[in-house]
Amino acid sequence: MAQGLSLVIAPKTLLLSPRRGITGEVVLPGSKSISNRVLLLAALAKGSTRLVRLLKSDDTEVMIQSLQRLGVAIDVSPPDGAIQVTGCNGVFSQTGSTAHPIQLFVGNSGLTIRTLLPALVVAMARTGGCVDISGVARMHERPIQDLVDGCRAIGAKIDYLGQPGFPPLRVEGVPLRVAPAITVRGDTSSQYLTGLLQAAPILARQWGQPVRVKVEGELISQPYVEMTRSVMARFGVPVKRETGAELVYAIAPTEIIAPEEFAVEGDASSASYFLAAGAIGHGPVRVVGVGRDSVQGDIHFAQALEKMGAQIQWGPDWIESSCHEPAADAHPMEEDLVHRMPHHLRGVDLDCNAIPDAAMTLAVCGLFAAGPTTLRNIGSWRVKETDRIAAVAAECERLGARVESGHDWIRIHPPQALLPATIQTYDDHRMAMSFSLASFGNTAIRIDDPGCVAKTFPEYFEALSGLCAQAVPVLTIDGPTASGKGTIASQVAAELGFGYLDSGALYRIAALAAQQEGIDLKDERALTSKATTMELEFQGQTALLDGVSVGEAIRQEQVGLMASQIAVFPSLRQALMLRQRDFARLPGLVADGRDMGTVVFPHARLKVFLTATPRARAERRYKQLIDKGFSANLDSLSADLEARDARDASRAVAPLKPASGAVVIDSTDLSINEVVQAVVNAWHQVSVKQTGRLT
Ligand code: C5P
Repeated sequence: MAQGLSLVIAPKTLLLSPRRGITGEVVLPGSKSISNRVLLLAALAKGSTRLVRLLKSDDTEVMIQSLQRLGVAIDVSPPDGAIQVTGCNGVFSQTGSTAHPIQLFVGNSGLTIRTLLPALVVAMARTGGCVDISGVARMHERPIQDLVDGCRAIGAKIDYLGQPGFPPLRVEGVPLRVAPAITVRGDTSSQYLTGLLQAAPILARQWGQPVRVKVEGELISQPYVEMTRSVMARFGVPVKRETGAELVYAIAPTEIIAPEEFAVEGDASSASYFLAAGAIGHGPVRVVGVGRDSVQGDIHFAQALEKMGAQIQWGPDWIESSCHEPAADAHPMEEDLVHRMPHHLRGVDLDCNAIPDAAMTLAVCGLFAAGPTTLRNIGSWRVKETDRIAAVAAECERLGARVESGHDWIRIHPPQALLPATIQTYDDHRMAMSFSLASFGNTAIRIDDPGCVAKTFPEYFEALSGLCAQAVPVLTIDGPTASGKGTIASQVAAELGFGYLDSGALYRIAALAAQQEGIDLKDERALTSKATTMELEFQGQTALLDGVSVGEAIRQEQVGLMASQIAVFPSLRQALMLRQRDFARLPGLVADGRDMGTVVFPHARLKVFLTATPRARAERRYKQLIDKGFSANLDSLSADLEARDARDASRAVAPLKPASGAVVIDSTDLSINEVVQAVVNAWHQVSVKQTGRLT
């Protein structure tokens, strides 16, 4: 994971159980590419811009922090989640000196360094100053020479502080020479051109004449340049493409004007994982935030997927994918899904120059195709977060595929069946996200360093598991302590032949693990870290914590009380969410707890809220404890239960309450069997209504 950036605590590896299906709708996080363009333009603009739905991730964080160090006022705290940037009108107020350079850290964000560099060169031409830019180790291996050469040609003073041709860099503010054109190569990264274009309006005003930027060599990833032009247009800066044999863009002396508000589109590259999942795992899956009207080139991934055999539908701001098979059956028999190894896509041979990022997702789709998939013109993969051609090849081979590759192409021959594997992610968010799709291949997959997704999509795995859970029939039973949920839920599960999740056990285990390590029960961060990283395994109903059975230990009242104390912390609840959703497997799941129907499985087919009078519940718990040989006192149990209910019902996150549409059952005067039958009957009724079948 990027050094010291992300506040998200992530486990070392993440186990993804084999998935059979996926369905539902995901609202995409903001586009990384648009977010970082708009942040810099808003910072350079005259006036103030409110940025709505800006991506919150490692890459935007390094851009925000860098701009703040240069004196730009960025308020990240407006209550509605928007961000307010007060533009510096082309003059950074803090630029340091050679004795005390400003230190900027850009992590592993190529776009940040490649757009900030020309902006600094231009903005400091009048003010002087000295700024050092560095990043993580991989950033210091990513080329930047073409851009540095382009800037030096107009007099910029830029020094390499490490390897020539690579960051870290030192930029000193010096006056720039007027030139008929700034020349930059386009065949390594289109980000160089984007950087020069974004800085050009300020330079043109200094020069009092248009700035012309000439591209040498083939321009790769062209749609990203169109995105730059479109975002700049929103800031009142037209970028003209000159006619003629050479590729030249011209920017007249223009003020960059803050558009007051800028709403960021969803991220089209992030959309690719869900669209692919919809094709591999039957779908339909709808991504919301990008669609027909998007300015992002990666939406064309959907057409590539269509060539592989997926069905795609387009809306103005959504795209939906599903697969042709099974032919006309909207509700495939669950048994079919259990046994089918998805191999229903077609192999393709594609030029992926225009969709370099989303093309990685195509490579993983290739594992599920009937023939080989060849992706061409992807040389830029070699200089991304990692050498992506080598990385994709290695991980596809690990899964059993045969792979051929050259300097700018890769061919994947899918295996008959995927091998279980731990996927290496090379500190590359797209490796983690694209290879998570291998979990649709009838085998469990482990993702190494899953936290690297924080670069662009910190909540990726939660979103994916949420959609996968929607493809599984789920019945939730929530209710207060000792309402009989556990007994009822496990018997209903047995009757339906479904799996069973006792979510309270996870909170209890987290509490026990914290207690064993002497963690303060008020220390949210330490508790969350423990809940995230604890090694937990279920063998049937036996829970093993770090290999030791804790079935008995967690049943103690005191552990239940501790569980309810730590359950108030949002980040801890979030940490346990993935583990809970992982229980949603075919043929179905019965889950009991406090927020199963409201938060963890909001799309459950049936939601039950089970309750009983406080006295009846205290008596049941008393009997349970005495039967198990624990000592107990009815009055103090009663008081404890009420305290616990009050805490569970009044906490800010996921308070205990019936989910909307829940069937409420008061079990005070009912036998266990009566309640079980009532729940099973309700299940059959909704199942018949929704699917035409009993389960
Ligand atoms: O159900 P059980 O008594 O085992 O749960 C222990 C505690 O864990 C509860 O009092 C509650 O505070 C917390 N919990 C929760 N959400 C769940 C399950 C349990 O907050 N889904």
